[in-house]
Amino acid sequence: MPAHVVVGMQWGDEGKGRVADLLAQDADIVARFAGGDNAGHTVQVGDESFKLHLIPSGVLHQDVVCVLGNGMVINPLKLVEELRVLESRGVDISPDRIRIAENAHIITPIHTALDSAKENQRGAGAIGTTRRGIGPAYMDKVGRMGLRAGLMRDIDRFAEAVKERIVIGNRILTTLYGSIAVDGEAMADELANAAQFLSAYIADTPLLLHRALEDGKRVLCEGAQGTLLDIDHGHYPYVTSSSPTVGGAITGLGIAPKYIDRVTGVAKAYSTRVGSGPFPTELEGDLGNKLRGTGENPWDEYGTTTGRPRRCGWLDTVVLRYAARINGLTDIVLTKLDILSGFEEVSVADSYMCQGELMHEVPGDHLMMARCEPVYETLRGWDDAISDIQQLDDLPGAARDYIDHVQGLVNRPICMVTVGPSRHQFIRVF
Ligand code: IMP
Repeated sequence: MPAHVVVGMQWGDEGKGRVADLLAQDADIVARFAGGDNAGHTVQVGDESFKLHLIPSGVLHQDVVCVLGNGMVINPLKLVEELRVLESRGVDISPDRIRIAENAHIITPIHTALDSAKENQRGAGAIGTTRRGIGPAYMDKVGRMGLRAGLMRDIDRFAEAVKERIVIGNRILTTLYGSIAVDGEAMADELANAAQFLSAYIADTPLLLHRALEDGKRVLCEGAQGTLLDIDHGHYPYVTSSSPTVGGAITGLGIAPKYIDRVTGVAKAYSTRVGSGPFPTELEGDLGNKLRGTGENPWDEYGTTTGRPRRCGWLDTVVLRYAARINGLTDIVLTKLDILSGFEEVSVADSYMCQGELMHEVPGDHLMMARCEPVYETLRGWDDAISDIQQLDDLPGAARDYIDHVQGLVNRPICMVTVGPSRHQFIRVF
């Protein structure tokens, strides 16, 4: 059946890439619909760990076609680098299995420089962006001055357009932010080289997807970031500049809503956030450190893209209910349940207390969200390691209670639970 959308239910880093890799087994096409190389997905295949930033996780399945959708912002230099690394590790990167939307937008070094300069200027009020040029590239897009991927088919025009964009950007960079100008000539040459390589990958992907869906092919629409980072539905301005929610899949791929028959939300069994912004269940001290891990393992809570330590806390089901509503979720994948092994007790927030008022919904305003104190329910924890368990019935009773409890509070069925980073470390519930 047609399109299956996978979205993050929290602040990103829920493990969507890993889940998309599992679900890609049943897909013909995996299409990423938003964001850029601010995202970082780690996919563990056997002993090998693949870090993906732009290319959909489906690339690790030989028969799957991958689409970088029009809702994305693509840094050509990073994309070439990512493709080359995959190629060196034996992954087929031929243009007939990786397609780039001609109407996706391009990130150049002027966008990354402007992102950094703006963050520096914000000082203590910084958003904590990944400094990958995401905001400035989407600003150019909606400001109707962006560079689209299709332009890379005409190298000379593309190089000219890059130079022009850098000239304008440099004025802002030097006069408004007092930063050093970007070398337009050198950057245009470098980008032109990348464009030469990438031009074979460019396609009319909305048409490709439409035809595939009409032919009954299965399309997995892979989101990046998470619901609470959505430009409209997150806590503005502490958000990214795209729509990581289900609506973003429709505009970001150019597919009609009638094809979507399943929307799966991915939620980590606890909460994490990178960057600034409200986070009611954040834990400081020992509990937060225990959830974060030391950084020795690739799955510890340190950013795949920036290496920043993630803020960690208990699961917030107010946030999960919100994500279920905004995205119209049909089901949920709960990831990293194994990380909760070894806690005597585990807590789950199911409402907030805000200025003397009990709240069951996420407030729209970030200042209000920052004043929310979580109201917790505490459940018994479990000691046993669960990473080798493959059947729900084999989990310790307390872990099963945790799953049931979350399912009850969010009122959506949990279809899968992951218990470790490897492909086989998951429990299929239905
Ligand atoms: P930007 O997307 O780089 O502009 O960053 C905006 C906000 O989104 C910052 O708080 C980032 O930390 C956050 N963010 C962006 N991408 C990701 C992601 O893939 N995982 C988690 N947080 C992200």
